[in-house]
Amino acid sequence: MSNDSTARIVAGLRAWIAQAPPGARVPSNRALMAEYGAGPVTVQKAMHALAALGLVESRPGVGTFVRAVRTVRPPDYGWQTGALRSPQVRIPTLAMPLRATSPDAIGLHDGYPDRELLPERLVRAALARASRSDAALTRSAVAGLPELRAWFANELAEATPAGVTPPAPRDVVVLPGSQSGLSSLFRSLVGFGQPLLVESPSYWGAILAAAQAGVRVVPVPSGAGGPDPDELARAFEETGARAFYAQPNYANPTGAQWSPRLVEQVLDVVRAHGAFLVEDDWAHDFGIDTTARPVAALDDAGHVVYLRSLTKSVSPAVRVAAVVARGPARDRVLADRGAESMYVSGLLQAAALDVVTQPGWRTHLRTLRQQLRARRDLLVDSLADHVPQAHLEHVPPGGLNLWARLPDATDLDRLAGDCEAAGVMIAPGTEWFPAEPSGPFIRLNYSGPDPDRFADAARLIGRALARPADRRTV
Ligand SMILES: Cc1ncc(COP(=O)(O)O)c(C=O)c1O
Repeated sequence: MSNDSTARIVAGLRAWIAQAPPGARVPSNRALMAEYGAGPVTVQKAMHALAALGLVESRPGVGTFVRAVRTVRPPDYGWQTGALRSPQVRIPTLAMPLRATSPDAIGLHDGYPDRELLPERLVRAALARASRSDAALTRSAVAGLPELRAWFANELAEATPAGVTPPAPRDVVVLPGSQSGLSSLFRSLVGFGQPLLVESPSYWGAILAAAQAGVRVVPVPSGAGGPDPDELARAFEETGARAFYAQPNYANPTGAQWSPRLVEQVLDVVRAHGAFLVEDDWAHDFGIDTTARPVAALDDAGHVVYLRSLTKSVSPAVRVAAVVARGPARDRVLADRGAESMYVSGLLQAAALDVVTQPGWRTHLRTLRQQLRARRDLLVDSLADHVPQAHLEHVPPGGLNLWARLPDATDLDRLAGDCEAAGVMIAPGTEWFPAEPSGPFIRLNYSGPDPDRFADAARLIGRALARPADRRTV
């Protein structure tokens, strides 16, 4: 008897149940033992699993039967319309990058790297060790495991130049991914109804988190070179905002990395307006031609609040990130986290710490850089060959995405639909703009599965783009 044999019987019976009529009799345990070459305990375990899933019911002394779906009448949820009222902000239920890839389609829309880019061996070993540690059975402190907080603080301290005081472990609050960190920061540092400056385009998830927090988003134009500091200063003055959300390294979606001069200029503007820079260092581990340079390392006066995630580089299943904030801002964030989720699973924190402190982690990051370079260049070349109308303002020096501008008349929704029907999923750029898009852009992620199909994907996009527009007038 083994878990594998149980799983095999469960899978086989699930397929059988899917096309059996409700009430059909499931083959007897004896027949299943013969069919699967399994013992009685294994078959019984499989039956228990199917019953727990609500797929079968056993009638003692009679047999086991496919559970009937008892729908007497369709449920009436109409009363909820009145109780829920209109939503204060309309948040799309599923952003394009979160959509599952259709079977056999080439997924260029997703935001998370394929598993071949993850340190799988390190992650599995770390999870096994974590499961045997105390972390598996105890509650973590609200701010996180002390050793993990020290690791995050130390990483930033290593980038801190002489003359600047590095962050301490107490400045670090561990998060279950940086997405919920964004919500916390917008809630606790900006506040309902207050303005928040945001690069445009910017990460769609940050725009949603701001909407959910009731924060008023004010776009600041940004591109392959980062934001314009004069525009930033103007926006601070016009709105009275006290916070600017930005991604100085390999921005999602543009791939921009700020030059050292721009970093100084933005810091000057932020300081002059007594404001926070919320720095989202989501792609810290995805440098290709350069290495990420956290702006937070240059600030010890608490202006820069730094978000650093491990979920994309360690594993999307080890959902661990951190915020580094100094002064009263850190206390606000910590209070918000306590109210929001109390603490992050210590098991995941221990596993994340284990991975990033193994010697194999550095080796993995070096290999990852080469893999990302090969994938990025392959997609750039494929676009040049098959979608010459797509304009890349630059080849991003890091990150996971290409941001391509298409001809002005492009109907992005139709293009995305045509591409999906042809077997390639792309992300229309609209979701990355806090206000009206400045043009028709698409975001293509080169870290998904099957890079050997990038040329095919580009060919399909080129073909969909060449399809004449419907002769419909609005
Ligand atoms: C810019 C940026 N910030 C934050 C996140 C959220 O990452 P996490 O997985 O840490 O929640 C993402 C995910 O795509 C992202 O692109």
